[in-house]
Amino acid sequence: MASDSIKSVLVEDRVFAPPADFAARMGEVHVPDMAAYRAMHERSIRDPEGFWGEVARGFRWFAPWTRVVEWNLPDAKWFVGGTANACFNAVDRQVEEGHGDDVASGWEGEPVGPGGPEVRRGTYRELRDEVARCAEALESLGVRKGDVVTIYMGMVPELAVAVLACARIGAPHSVIFGGFAAQAIVDRVQDADSKVIVTCDGAWRRGGVVPLKANVDAACERLPGVRSVLVLRRTGTEGAMKNGRDRWWHELVPAQPATRACEPVDSEHPLFLLYTSGSTGKPKGILHTTGGYMVYVAATARWTFNLQPGTGQVYFCTADLGWITGHSYIVYGILPNRVPTVMYEGAPNFPAEDRFWAIVERHKATHFYTAPTAIRSFMRWGDAHPAKHDLSSLRVLGTVGEPINPEAWIWYHERIGGGRCPIVDTIWQTETGGHVITPLPGATPTVPGSCTLPMFGVDAAVVDEHGTEQPANAGGLLVIRRPWPGMLRGVHGDRQRFVDTYWSRVKGMYLAGDGARRDSRGYFWIMGRIDDVLNVSGHRLGTAEVESSLVGSKLVVEAAVVGMPHEIKGTGVAAFCVLHPDHAKDAGDAMRRRLMEHVAKDIGAIARPDVIRFTNALPKTRSGKIMRRLLRDVAAGKETTQDTTTLEDFGVLAKLRESDE
Ligand code: WT7
Repeated sequence: MASDSIKSVLVEDRVFAPPADFAARMGEVHVPDMAAYRAMHERSIRDPEGFWGEVARGFRWFAPWTRVVEWNLPDAKWFVGGTANACFNAVDRQVEEGHGDDVASGWEGEPVGPGGPEVRRGTYRELRDEVARCAEALESLGVRKGDVVTIYMGMVPELAVAVLACARIGAPHSVIFGGFAAQAIVDRVQDADSKVIVTCDGAWRRGGVVPLKANVDAACERLPGVRSVLVLRRTGTEGAMKNGRDRWWHELVPAQPATRACEPVDSEHPLFLLYTSGSTGKPKGILHTTGGYMVYVAATARWTFNLQPGTGQVYFCTADLGWITGHSYIVYGILPNRVPTVMYEGAPNFPAEDRFWAIVERHKATHFYTAPTAIRSFMRWGDAHPAKHDLSSLRVLGTVGEPINPEAWIWYHERIGGGRCPIVDTIWQTETGGHVITPLPGATPTVPGSCTLPMFGVDAAVVDEHGTEQPANAGGLLVIRRPWPGMLRGVHGDRQRFVDTYWSRVKGMYLAGDGARRDSRGYFWIMGRIDDVLNVSGHRLGTAEVESSLVGSKLVVEAAVVGMPHEIKGTGVAAFCVLHPDHAKDAGDAMRRRLMEHVAKDIGAIARPDVIRFTNALPKTRSGKIMRRLLRDVAAGKETTQDTTTLEDFGVLAKLRESDE
């Protein structure tokens, strides 16, 4: 993270107490004050078995567990011996308990016709039936318990249906973000050894169509193992259906009976894989299992957002289901709380920059959860857009994905929250399953830019390499010192990477990969990643992935990718490229555009470099390591403070500077 933004958080000391009338607006407040927070947190750490045992008893189990937790560093098992089903607790349970006619979800399509956008609402009963049919359809395609199903769709209701259908039969899902391109599909399907893909013909995005099925077709040329592709028609995009492999959703799914019951699975049965970037080129498949994840995401959603069934709450999260935020806080964490969850299909600025506020108004959302990068875009688009809409239904605002700069926090608080809505700045990761440090809206005084205090059961700390806790305001490594129910259970097919990445650098503790400090109040401040992972618009991107895509173009022989400060994205992507000798004469804007397009097509638009610099050689140390810090300084336009005496070629730095446009 840029040191400028660190400075701006260091001076921040405005404190916002929870509004006095919060309880009056919310009905019951689960954690009403700091004394309650402290008592619950203290107990959750002193007696995790008692604490989580009580929480888990609020869920439906087919067979009870015999032990709450078993901890064999680095492996944890939760609710050992119990059997459950995450789809049952999200959906079927509500129907069984007499809430089948309650609204489970709302959805808006992106296109806006003369009569407004397409809006759908579904009850728990409708959702259960649709999920049961989809589960049956997947089984008719040969999917069995334990088989990984790949899901690559736009943000349509059927995406949530497909996810829950997998959970229903115990087939782990692997959702691939619809913004990723063919190569990303190939890598993930191969790694997961997945034989069935669920997709759409296309997805609406900013008025255009993302050709999802064409991307799947291209990927399948390199994936002989894929047996079936189930295709939902959404955009009406023409494309050939491959005989024997492709099936239409509208032909197969509605024809099934809605009778398939939820499969009882072991508490540690895999629920899903979700691929995320690390510091090597290969994305890792983060494994989450059933019982612990199911309990953790629903309980944290309830505490963090103060969810209350039957009180008219409506929860709107702008994330895509292709990311962990969508998994945990659109589907698995919200549905069990019986508060309608709103999904939106498209871009925030389609057909105009007020789209999210139109959705809040139309659905009377009480909760709104988005990323700082989006808030910075809203600020730039201007106050007139939210001002056009009635946002008075809002009660709680959330942010996630990256540190929020205090300016954006204040704008969000005033312009969106009308000064009356607590902001929960939630830090967590694909790996943590759910929130690990966050304010609680009725209890925690907030300070713009700080994610404040640990969630129940989370023993978070800032330590040095030896695991020694750092004094107030000293920077260090963010760790969690004991297991929590939502933690990852492994990296698919790569035990060593699981051990090396999370459990080796600081002995006996989970290493998040973020730098952090705690202030004198004990509040946490996240300082950014400590590895070669960039946080671009709240999305994780491995520098090595972009580098290998650039080299894969065959136009570039060597590339180094670093982050650079970016007004909207937080971090932008800067690439330093050494062109192949045959193309060296082409260094220029046309080549820049060609390489940017190549990366966008290969990985997806989020990986498209913002800046490309051509150079004759990359600056390296004598041992051959690329001097990334120096490149970061150059990309940020700073005079480098780095000692350059170890540079292999002193001329390189000068040449890089000359290449400044
Ligand atoms: C990384 C995890 C959690 C869902 C979205 C991203 C950064 C996330 C915050 C926050 C500061 C944050 C961290 C973390 N991050 N939320 N509120 N404040 N940083 O999930 O792709 O797994 O990325 O995002 O660096 O390690 P992810």
